[in-house]
Amino acid sequence: MNNKTFYVTTPIYYVNDVPHIGHAYTTVAADVLARYKRLCGYDVFFLTGTDEHGQKIEQAAQKKGVTPKELADTVVERFKSLWVKLNISNDKFIRTTDEEHKKAVQKIFKKMQENGDIYLGEYEGWYCTPCETYWTETQLLDGNHCPSCGRETHKLKEPSYFFRMSKYQDELLKYIEENPDFIQPPSRKNEIVSFIKEGLKDLSVSRVSFKWGIPVPGDENHVIYVWIDALTNYISAIGYLDETEQFKKYWPADVHLVGKDILRFHTVYWPTMLMSAGLPLPKKVFAHGWWTVEGQKMSKSLGNAIDPNWLVDTFGVDAIRYFLLREVPFGLDGDFSFKALIHRINGDLANDLGNLLNRTLGMIKRYFDGVIPAYKEEDESDRELLAKIEEVFEEVDKHLNNIAFNKALIAIWQLVSELNKYIDKNAPWMLAKDESKRDRLESVLYLVLDGIRILSLLIYPFMPDTAKEIRRQLNLDIDLHKSNFDELKKVKQLKSGIKIGEVKQLFPRIDEKEFLEKISKENEKTMPEPSVEEITIDHFSKVVIKAGKILEAEKIVKSEKLLKLKVDLGNNDIRQIVAGVAKSYNPEDLKGKTVAVVSNLKPAKLMGVKSEGMILAAWVGDRHVVVELPDDVPAGSIIK
Ligand code: MSP
Repeated sequence: MNNKTFYVTTPIYYVNDVPHIGHAYTTVAADVLARYKRLCGYDVFFLTGTDEHGQKIEQAAQKKGVTPKELADTVVERFKSLWVKLNISNDKFIRTTDEEHKKAVQKIFKKMQENGDIYLGEYEGWYCTPCETYWTETQLLDGNHCPSCGRETHKLKEPSYFFRMSKYQDELLKYIEENPDFIQPPSRKNEIVSFIKEGLKDLSVSRVSFKWGIPVPGDENHVIYVWIDALTNYISAIGYLDETEQFKKYWPADVHLVGKDILRFHTVYWPTMLMSAGLPLPKKVFAHGWWTVEGQKMSKSLGNAIDPNWLVDTFGVDAIRYFLLREVPFGLDGDFSFKALIHRINGDLANDLGNLLNRTLGMIKRYFDGVIPAYKEEDESDRELLAKIEEVFEEVDKHLNNIAFNKALIAIWQLVSELNKYIDKNAPWMLAKDESKRDRLESVLYLVLDGIRILSLLIYPFMPDTAKEIRRQLNLDIDLHKSNFDELKKVKQLKSGIKIGEVKQLFPRIDEKEFLEKISKENEKTMPEPSVEEITIDHFSKVVIKAGKILEAEKIVKSEKLLKLKVDLGNNDIRQIVAGVAKSYNPEDLKGKTVAVVSNLKPAKLMGVKSEGMILAAWVGDRHVVVELPDDVPAGSIIK
């Protein structure tokens, strides 16, 4: 009977969005922990899934003209198929529309009620009638406008059940203090502690203003607040409803991995709910940072949320898994760029790891006809290498227990580098020239092969396919799940006298320049126009556009693009405006024209020349066409 258990979870993803690298990130991270712990002999439960209730989903479905369940059924398949593609080894995929989950949510709600922690009150917020949505004061635009449609909102009240969260403030602070690992990384813990110390308020946990959710038991007009519903997934998925053996075995979870934006829900709402329901708290909640893409925030409107499916098809699953966890320390924000990705692939994967395998197997073929030699003659450099191998297991274990994926990978790559150095130092190609050094030649290459075997174990949680491929080339068992890790970890386990498998390159190098050019061409061809963020009339009315008569125009020395204009905006308002149209207009072409000018633009300097406004022009393929107004429009006329 295995009594070492490990329960790891990802957030459950909303089905109003398609999966992007942010989602892939947490799921790959959880997968690495699950695979590592399984390898170490733990009985692992790895949970992921989808969050399908709530007003956001209801509205997204409405927009698409389908029911919320239909929307969820479609989007859920995208998540599931992506997880297959990314080699995610989850033990269960929970959907909050699962019957068992719904009952489990009602059960925890009742428990909290029985404990005297739920009471009926009134929820007050800013309501947008067309959107049927409540907003908080801080979300509103310009004081009282809906951030979604821009229309006016009004203060509204509705009956709501409340959770007496305030009651658990001291107990929660005590738990956090007594369990210093509960909130990770430590910087985030401080944020949460100060938030709690400011005073916990009771939480509104039901709504009557929409229907898509789990009804409050005994008062079906109300649906349970989506976060109460969602957080409960961590226990409903393992059998909380019937308090099964499985539930007792895995709860409390060892670690919930979450993004920094949802840490508060996991370290304030969730633990206080559990306290109220009389259940133990999770051992750890780890908040990772956020990814930007090529320096920009990922967003639907910018159209820059890279599809992870495309990434995997283009670069291979393990390159992506490796990059996500190697590039950025897990608690910090990071930037995804093709340059950085290609750099990692060419450097760490193709050069360091790929080449190590390739050159070693090449020599095994050349000197030993592809048969694994025996270890015969030890020397000092061997002892150093063996000591390094012992160390790396300990380091990786320490770092993975601290959820420091990048540090674990750095430690593994130190071994890659030690092995490459060991080859260079022992120069098998020199040993091969001297028949009397045959034993040493065998020993050196044996040890390197054994080191590569060790690497296949170490990289397995991160890059399962590559680990298997290395093991196939070494002619080893590729199924690591049923293996005894403690045995496998021992050095010099490789059997001699066995022929290696077919040799293949692990990671082809990518020509960065060629790739980037190809991408930009494809983007031009296929990228839809990025859908621009919608603005309200209030936003637009902030821009003052006026008719302006160009009085003078001249070239700016040293600039191919810029012209300096003197423009009359009426009412004695004569401005100097720099316009980037010099490739399309000679100064004399512009003189006398009446054009459209953004008149309230903050002055700026272009090539050292002051500009007090901007003239509007259309970009037509390769040239500018200035927006002209008929001559009889007086300078200073407002354009709306
Ligand atoms: N449904 C809730 C979670 C409920 S858990 C009980 C939710 N869903 S989400 O789909 O919006 O986000 C899921 C996760 O993706 C969050 O952990 C969030 O931090 C993460 N990410 C979303 N965008 C991200 C990046 N740009 N970068 C990294 N992770 C990001 O919140």
